Amino acid sequence: MKILVTGGAGYIGSHTLLELIGKGHEPVVIDNFANSSIESVRRVEELTGKTVDVYKGDVRNLRLLNKIFEEHRIDWVIHFAGLKAVGESCAKPVEYYDNNLYGTLTLLKAMKKHCCKRIVFSSSATVYGTPERLPLDEGCAVGATTNPYGTSKYFQEIMLKDVYAADKEWTVVLLRYFNPVGAHGSGRIGEDPKGIPNNLTPYIAKVAIGELKEVGVFGDDYDTPDGTGVRDYIHVVDLAKGHVAAVEKLTSCGVYTYNLGTGVGYSVLDVIHAFEKACGHELPYVVKPRRPGDIAACYSDPSKAQRELGWKAEYGIDEMCLSSWKWQQKNPHGYKK
Ligand code: NAD
Ligand code: UFG
Repeated sequence: MKILVTGGAGYIGSHTLLELIGKGHEPVVIDNFANSSIESVRRVEELTGKTVDVYKGDVRNLRLLNKIFEEHRIDWVIHFAGLKAVGESCAKPVEYYDNNLYGTLTLLKAMKKHCCKRIVFSSSATVYGTPERLPLDEGCAVGATTNPYGTSKYFQEIMLKDVYAADKEWTVVLLRYFNPVGAHGSGRIGEDPKGIPNNLTPYIAKVAIGELKEVGVFGDDYDTPDGTGVRDYIHVVDLAKGHVAAVEKLTSCGVYTYNLGTGVGYSVLDVIHAFEKACGHELPYVVKPRRPGDIAACYSDPSKAQRELGWKAEYGIDEMCLSSWKWQQKNPHGYKK
């Protein structure tokens, strides 16, 4: 199938390109490179031996989107493009709502015009806010979000559901990712955050390589087994395969919502220790105050995706850390030469 991948040069997008091509699909990418570089797509081409059509531009550019739909008969859209930094979204809510909501609206306009009515949307566990119960299943309450980024994901889910409510020929897939980490086994593509990483595993990787002094553990007084925050880390390759499963399995119209996680929660200290095993040396850390907006624990019940998509995460925390370490070692400056 021909699949338009918005944000395809990004972290999850580039891994998904690889899996799509591996299954014989033909991805077409639109990305404005706000948080990525063309190098990731070049490396996907190198790994697969296939060329990928890339359009440099913004998903808020309706003319560009119309041109893409005119030049390709698109079967599905996988919509990754968006801004994703929680802290930044609190400082720049207007930019976040503009990029994320207006981007999705413009994309939906172009899809409607060209009668392309199948979309997979990158949602997030963040839509659950403070978990109503654990593990989180898709029936848990959503909407009590705590930052503009999370609220934009929640609004986009509502927009997409409304599109289906008005036209039952749509297929809308809402994939709620838990904590994507790790990198492709080749060590050629991975996560390339700009500046000092906000997320745990890229931060640990920079400590492991000696670029940062120590890991700050944000709170050790949570109601969790060791007092540190617990999350459901999922290998980015497993996550990418979840998208392939969605476009291949879902042949009937409707709205489908799935958690993509492993169902297992690891604490911050568990992750630090798993990374120590991967890199072969101890990692210094200090306990710091809790980070505002953080919750104690968040992990999924991923059984619906297994039942309906035949998808299940295969990799565990050790593979996540090993692949992340390999990427870090082989690319100490990310995609920069
Ligand atoms: P990323 O920043 O690496 O990828 C997003 C891509 O979209 C980037 O290449 C960026 O340049 C592009 N982009 C942003 N705004 C754009 C626009 N207006 N027009 C065109 N391109 C644009 O992030 P990622 O981690 O790969 O995340 C992909 C999606 O998954 C995002 O929507 C994110 O919110 C969602 N998500 C990510 C996580 C996570 O922890 N990584 C968790 C849950 C959900
Ligand atoms: N943490 C630290 N030190 C750090 C960074 C993080 O102790 O330097 C802790 C956090 O307090 C939390 C855990 O590590 O307990 C994970 O934090 P991350 O920042 O890696 O991830 P979050 O769970 O906060 O959020 C991530 C993405 C969101 C997404 C969410 C759910 O950043 O965009 O997962 O998918 F919505």
